[in-house]
Amino acid sequence: MKQIISVDVATRKVELAKCKTELLVIGQFSDGKKPTLSGDAKALDEKLDGAIGRLIKLGDFKGAAKTQAVLYGDGKIAATRLMLVGLGEKKKVTLDTIRQAAATAAKKAVGMKLKTLALALHRAGADDLETGAIGRAMAEGAYFGSYRYDEFVTDKDNGRLGALKVEIVDPQAGTLKELNRGVCAGAVIGRAQSYARTIANRPANVINPPTLAKAAREMARDIKGLSCTVFDEKQLKAQKMGGILAVGAGSQSAPRLIILKYTPAQTPAKKLPKVALVGKAVTFDSGGISIKPSANMDQMKLDKSGGIAVLATMKAVAELQLPISVWGLIPSAENLPSGSSYRPGDIVTTYSGKTVEILNTDAEGRMILADALAYAVKQKRDTVIDVATLTGACMVALGNHKAGLMSNDDDLIAQLKQAAEDSGEDVWHLPSGDEYAEDMKSKIADLKNAGPRWGGASTAAAFLRQFVDETTWAHLDIAGMDIFQKGAAHAAPGSTGFGVRLLTTYLMTLTGKR
Ligand code: BES
Ligand code: MN
Ligand code: ZN
Repeated sequence: MKQIISVDVATRKVELAKCKTELLVIGQFSDGKKPTLSGDAKALDEKLDGAIGRLIKLGDFKGAAKTQAVLYGDGKIAATRLMLVGLGEKKKVTLDTIRQAAATAAKKAVGMKLKTLALALHRAGADDLETGAIGRAMAEGAYFGSYRYDEFVTDKDNGRLGALKVEIVDPQAGTLKELNRGVCAGAVIGRAQSYARTIANRPANVINPPTLAKAAREMARDIKGLSCTVFDEKQLKAQKMGGILAVGAGSQSAPRLIILKYTPAQTPAKKLPKVALVGKAVTFDSGGISIKPSANMDQMKLDKSGGIAVLATMKAVAELQLPISVWGLIPSAENLPSGSSYRPGDIVTTYSGKTVEILNTDAEGRMILADALAYAVKQKRDTVIDVATLTGACMVALGNHKAGLMSNDDDLIAQLKQAAEDSGEDVWHLPSGDEYAEDMKSKIADLKNAGPRWGGASTAAAFLRQFVDETTWAHLDIAGMDIFQKGAAHAAPGSTGFGVRLLTTYLMTLTGKR
């Protein structure tokens, strides 16, 4: 199988006009009718005998976000090509503007089969943003945009090279030093997110619960402070994890509970919570006996995205050596119809002891999460955050712009909202209170797994809340956020890796690292 593109990000001190690279990238705001050139653009324009000015005068580039224009260096500057990337209105600029601009440039660079790319987007004058944070956003964006999933394309010349060398360039040593801190973290996070996208993009005949567990073991093996244990079917039975077992019963690939533990070398500050991240990894969701319609069912290979976001976050957290104790719990099952499947009407006893009447086998995510959440609570984790492609209803509510956030703790809500802003992986707070829990009560068991038609994202969250007792908890419903339908300007189609940046940022901020 072909390797995914290998990306390397570093910083370099160089004057922009003297920067030897195949593609030099600068940012440009759209303010004004004809955008006023940034300092860099002005200096480069002089060297290029006014080529940038002419391009802008023609109206071919206005600095609007998600647009770009390429000019040629013609030996007048050291770079072969110069790309202007639009950053939109200056007053609206955020870290995500920079991240997406870097991603747009990187995607273009891979499309043009370039070996080198130099980014100077931080110099456009986004003065309110902190330099280190911009460095991180550029590095994350470089990974994000250069990513492609083509490991099964056997055509050797399918339009990309094996590697891309990205440089973040600046003439000032001081700025570079500040940038570099962010760039290093951004490279770790960017790589983790690309790893997440690859595992998520792999189809269900490649990734099933046992092979996912194997991938988790391999990932953890090479990283200091990270351990991986896996409950197989026998251990799940011994532990009475009835939810995971029920969902996995219909498949030839038996279910697993993957347990990753990161223990920092440095003793964490006393005030820091012991965190558990819990991710739904349904390697294929056919709906089971309550089978889904066949249109777009292929996309249900991405129903493992929450679990994989947790897997990759554990990789990032351990590589960053964050001084905080974090566990990653990944319940994994394949939801298929067969003679051994669980059925509508079944009553399942979960790990917590609570019983659930199954009304719809397609509401399987909450069944596997119920066991993993209860396990996290039993193991005395202080803060538990689950991530799941849980409900179509959340997609109906929020589209593919924001993940649903439900929680029993106002501080955690605030922290996750801040992490969303910093990471560009957005969330929106939705309710999950007692009125929704009421909708999930069964007459013949403690709970039922499917509620009324309306408010499906909130009733699902309220169901999960029954398994965390008083523990500080948040739930991220990432249905709709897991996939890019068509290629966006800044991203290839397929898995988004959503959640890796959000969760890693949340944990970094907790430890005082930003
Ligand atoms: N994995 C799906 C949710 C989903 C749907 C994610 C579309 C991404 C895109 C989940 O397991 C599911 O089937 N949920 C049901 C729950 C219902 C039966 C209560 C749903 O949302 O329809
Ligand atoms: Mn389902
Ligand atoms: Zn599902």
